[in-house]
Amino acid sequence: MSKKLTIGMFGFGVVGQGLYDIIKTKNLNLEIKKFVIKNADKKRSLPAALFTTDANSILEDPEINTVVELIDDAEAAFEITSRALKSGKNVVSANKKMIATHLEELTDIQHEYGTSLLYEGAVCGSIPIIRNLEEYYDNELLHSVSGIFNGSSNYILSKIFNENQSYEAALKKAQELGFAETDPTLDVGGYDPKFKLAIVASHAYGLYINPDKILNLGIDKLNDADIRYAKEKNYKIKLVPLAKESAQGEVVLYVLPKFLTKDSILYNVENENNGVLVKAAFADEQFFFGKGAGGHPTGSAVLSDITALRYDYRYEYKKHLESSQVTYSTNYELKVYFRYENEDVLENIKFNTILERFYGEQSKYVIGFINLQEIINKRDLINQSGYFLAEIL
Ligand code: HSE
Repeated sequence: MSKKLTIGMFGFGVVGQGLYDIIKTKNLNLEIKKFVIKNADKKRSLPAALFTTDANSILEDPEINTVVELIDDAEAAFEITSRALKSGKNVVSANKKMIATHLEELTDIQHEYGTSLLYEGAVCGSIPIIRNLEEYYDNELLHSVSGIFNGSSNYILSKIFNENQSYEAALKKAQELGFAETDPTLDVGGYDPKFKLAIVASHAYGLYINPDKILNLGIDKLNDADIRYAKEKNYKIKLVPLAKESAQGEVVLYVLPKFLTKDSILYNVENENNGVLVKAAFADEQFFFGKGAGGHPTGSAVLSDITALRYDYRYEYKKHLESSQVTYSTNYELKVYFRYENEDVLENIKFNTILERFYGEQSKYVIGFINLQEIINKRDLINQSGYFLAEIL
């Protein structure tokens, strides 16, 4: 028999609303007792008595055994989550920045207090990748996990490539549809998929890596010359995070735009859809596809975590306990396309090999091999207006 969940929910934005829509259609042996929101004056679709701005009305209510945390602010979310876990409440969160940044501490708190924190909704919306990495691939030798982890960037790229829309118009639409973060730089700058990558890498390889240490470049510097180049070669550009065992016991992680050919399984992942491509030693390739953003798809993953708590499900973090031999590495050679404006900048960036140089009236680019650590070292030079770097095969 599943236990009854009495829920306190923080936040009632796109995902909170989506979750509520789903819950109200089902008889799930759970009750949402209170919502804590930031803005008391905003008109709500539910009775006003359910809403408060006082976090203690959830955190200090002994009847509430489950906290659902769906707010924007990662540090406030961490305070709420750690207090709830320490007071014996289980937590479901979709806050990827909070989880990626504080995962090790949150794992320790769960172990110490015997409570459970679940966060499937934080990574790739509706795709159940965390539970699969945690359970199914436990004994599998994972070569890599990559894919499309950001619905907004992918939506923008689809509109640019398939419908010739402008970057600005596509971004505005992604915001209107509720896919984008409050600060869309997190999406188009590759930060949001980086947080998701850090969480994925943790459950894939048992590593705790602070996202500040992971390279992310986004699609925000993309221009017409890059799009023309891609179209001439029948490529599409996608924003692709990668976690890969690059050498025995060494894992590399980065988020970069990437030119993809038609034979890549990610080539046809369009709009706000996400895809996760797992490559494993014996299973070979497996691909997970589904909606990566939006209230109902993300709400469905949050609900799956809530219902799992009725059966006392928890992540065991087994790989973390055994992971002493796996280390994070940034020593990895990549083939990249780099569009630049000033020769000076190019002279300051050390390519291992340059394969191709192009000087046109409207743009200049090089294609060559470069070390990941060199891109990290020169990130500020590379990530300025007028420059664009993407991985190319
Ligand atoms: N802004 C995110 C995205 C929402 O576009 O993928 C889902 O995490």
